[in-house]
Amino acid sequence: MLVSAPGKIILFGEHSVVYGKGAIASAIDLRTYTDGKLLNEKIIKIHANDLKIPGLSISFSEEEVFLGTDYGKAGFVVSYVKSAIERIFTEYGSRKGFEISIKSDIPVGAGLGSSAAVVVPTLKLLSELLEMKLKNEEIARMGKEVEFEVQGSSSGIDPAVSALGGGLYFKKGKIERFSAPNLPLIVGYTGEKGSTKILLEKVKMLKEEYPGIVNDIMDAMGEIAEKGKKILGENGDLNELGALMNINNGLLEAIGVSTKELSELVFASRISGALGAKITGAGGGGCMYALAPNKQREVETAIKIAGGIPIRTKTTDEGVRIEHE
Ligand code: PMV
Repeated sequence: MLVSAPGKIILFGEHSVVYGKGAIASAIDLRTYTDGKLLNEKIIKIHANDLKIPGLSISFSEEEVFLGTDYGKAGFVVSYVKSAIERIFTEYGSRKGFEISIKSDIPVGAGLGSSAAVVVPTLKLLSELLEMKLKNEEIARMGKEVEFEVQGSSSGIDPAVSALGGGLYFKKGKIERFSAPNLPLIVGYTGEKGSTKILLEKVKMLKEEYPGIVNDIMDAMGEIAEKGKKILGENGDLNELGALMNINNGLLEAIGVSTKELSELVFASRISGALGAKITGAGGGGCMYALAPNKQREVETAIKIAGGIPIRTKTTDEGVRIEHE
């Protein structure tokens, strides 16, 4: 049986969501595919040999050549799969032999929800093979538990988006799903991901130092998320969404979560015709996204020239789904 689930981007409200404001995330049409079957032998086989991992870097000094690889991230992915399998077997009450192969369109560790997009279809696949028929809401909840076990914390945003699809509005732990229009996006990946934990700490310290200023910034980001939600739910006016993205990015710059690389990708996208461009997720590296309805190719090229990895995608309503039995 083949099951797939999407990655996510945060459209509006990262960081301010931590301070009680609303945020909007959406599923994107980059998916992870889990193909699997039950085995008669008591053995679990996990194959993860087609993960989009940016790869290999070689640098050198006078004395030495340094070889860096991201392949360690593949092991990281497998720890999520293992935990998801354990979680289902606990719910089922016994263990079965099982073989799973994973393929993904989503770069690992870029802030696009790659971990949840592996956990969610793994849970769904096993739930179907064992005839447990768990609902997607239950898959989202179990996905959060798996993330919690592997990472030590989870807001639950990524597994919820991956399981349910569409747009999700988050505020104070409550989730509201809405149908997301197909927004044509170019994601620009800097090739590295900042630590969400460190960035949250940095923003917290800035807020302690300048409470009045930072609270006003958080309020403004919250207002942008509310306006964004209204536009997405009503007419999907892309010019207006683009303008909101640009303002939101300025505010994220103001609280210090951008980097030179991210800002360069944001400006390269705007100059080449994007209606709006903004960081997505915690910042400090990771990804930005550009809304570029008629300038997809131009923005992709501009991001590449500016040193980023462009990924063409769009928002989608499709959450986890069975591709074939
Ligand atoms: O780094 P990401 O893509 O997981 O995004 C984190 C979003 C924050 O608002 C910064 C943190 C959070 O838990 O909401």
